[in-house]
Amino acid sequence: MSSSPEALKIGIIGFGPFAQFLASTMVKQGHTLTATSRTDYSELCSNLGVDFFRDIDTFLNVHNDVILLCTSIVSLSQVLKSIPFHLVKNPNILFVDVLSVKNYPRDLLLQVLPETMDLLCTHPMFGPESGRDGWDGLPFVFEKVRIRDQDVCSSFLQIFELEGCRMVEMTCEEHDKQAARSQFLTHTIGRILSEMDIKSTSMDTKGFQKLVQLKESTMKDGFDLYRGLFVHNKYAEQELKNLELAIQTVKQKLLDRMEEK
Ligand SMILES: NC(=O)c1ccc[n+]([C@@H]2O[C@H](COP(=O)([O-])OP(=O)(O)OC[C@H]3O[C@@H](n4cnc5c(N)ncnc54)[C@H](OP(=O)(O)O)[C@@H]3O)[C@@H](O)[C@H]2O)c1
Repeated sequence: MSSSPEALKIGIIGFGPFAQFLASTMVKQGHTLTATSRTDYSELCSNLGVDFFRDIDTFLNVHNDVILLCTSIVSLSQVLKSIPFHLVKNPNILFVDVLSVKNYPRDLLLQVLPETMDLLCTHPMFGPESGRDGWDGLPFVFEKVRIRDQDVCSSFLQIFELEGCRMVEMTCEEHDKQAARSQFLTHTIGRILSEMDIKSTSMDTKGFQKLVQLKESTMKDGFDLYRGLFVHNKYAEQELKNLELAIQTVKQKLLDRMEEK
């Protein structure tokens, strides 16, 4: 078990479902949180103990150690364009993103972030559903893209270490390759099962129960997330083709043996 991390001042941009989920653990650990978002989350934030700012300029005027980007994948470019980076109070701040694709935010952030600011790209491989009962043993993927202040970066990573996450350091490139074959494939099959409208029966096998669970957990995530996994991961299209080909191959094997006795 790691020692208690240094209390950080963390500003969150994009306070949707995933940010709310992360924020409650961060507050519980004693970090000081502020947030801004397209939607007004003032009331929800006040219940969580987070200061909410409707206006991005005022939000950036707070001296934070970390800015955590939790916007949807497909809105990232637009959100980054709306940030007046020259107003960020702390010129050596650490930017962290949690997007479920990694090359895309790394490249965009390296283009727009002032040279003095650090960058940590992360993907917690769990969400409000799978992490509902705690984060113990769940993977947390990260790449230290540009880190000069090791202390702030370590303190941020300790938030997840302290909850028992399995810390996986890998490049954004390797993440996207693996995620297309695992996470994108999982979401695709979950959505296919939903299109087929599969439902629990009175004689479910264990295997079928797992398929119904997969359909249900996949459909709790918005379509924007799924769209982002496809549009902004260059490896996803090939995995979709592999899936289509595999369905054709399996079907052909059956058809070829139709006449067998
Ligand atoms: N859910 C998960 O299990 C999970 C796990 C790991 C990583 N992530 C990543 O975490 C991020 C947030 O995910 P999520 O589950 O909360 O849902 P999401 O639908 O992917 O993102 C919702 C967030 O994006 C913001 N947003 C959407 N369109 C916008 C626009 N046009 N302009 C400004 N902001 C916009 C929303 O702001 P408002 O709410 O203010 O409208 C909200 O904060 C995503 O990048 C996702 O890949 C999610």
